[in-house]
Amino acid sequence: MNSIDSTSAVATANSGALSLRKLLILVGSPRREGNSATMAQAVKLGAEEAGIQVALHFVDDHITSFLRDCRTCRRADGECGIQDRFRELFYEQFLAADGVVFCSPVYWYGLSAQMKAFFDRTFCYYAASHPDSAAVMRRMSGKRIGLVLASEETYPGASLGIAHQIQEYARYTYSEFVGVVRGAGNRRGEVAEDPGGPLEQAERMGREFFSRKYTDYRMDTPRSPRVWGGE
Ligand SMILES: Cc1cc2nc3c(=O)[nH]c(=O)nc-3n(C[C@H](O)[C@H](O)[C@H](O)COP(=O)(O)O)c2cc1C
Repeated sequence: MNSIDSTSAVATANSGALSLRKLLILVGSPRREGNSATMAQAVKLGAEEAGIQVALHFVDDHITSFLRDCRTCRRADGECGIQDRFRELFYEQFLAADGVVFCSPVYWYGLSAQMKAFFDRTFCYYAASHPDSAAVMRRMSGKRIGLVLASEETYPGASLGIAHQIQEYARYTYSEFVGVVRGAGNRRGEVAEDPGGPLEQAERMGREFFSRKYTDYRMDTPRSPRVWGGE
């Protein structure tokens, strides 16, 4: 990918009043009443409490195919040749959002294939061979990113690979990775019984999504010696 001006990308994403911010919640599970969806609904509730404009979508309502070889698949006008609803999700929801929460089950210690396909399919639009590539890269950058994961196992290592992947995605796109919520459960909605309170954590993430303090320093970053409060 070409380099991009991180300062202007983040400034663009951070402009405007908090209440006007748009949050997209993507669910990567096929289960409509599953644990990822249950936590996604909690994020939505919290965000709505904060006056954030929220949209929630299931990835598999929009994606019916993996990424293909763009050389053979791309249409003569440069557009993606795959005929499903990914473009609509990507342009109207993802690019238009100031923040995105990815909600996925842990499948084989990774994201679900549905959610992974979402990331892969963006390639078609930011690749240099797409006519809108520069604008797409600009609009992919500088968002706030959150992660919500449902798993059967409670061991922290089960989701570390996914957290690392999303961190790298955030770094690559000059985005701000503001938090992770993990809930344990197997049966649909069982996550509500997790004593760690993932639904409360998810609701809080939604409520604080754009106001939560985010810092990622370098050695020379000017800063106060205190993290919270006065000097
Ligand atoms: C294909 C598949 C792979 C899974 N792999 C794991 C895994 O590696 N670790 C784990 O803790 N749970 C694993 N699970 C269990 C799910 O993460 C768990 O049931 C989760 O709550 C499902 O979320 P959902 O209700 O949003 O679909 C797997 C489930 C499926 C169907």
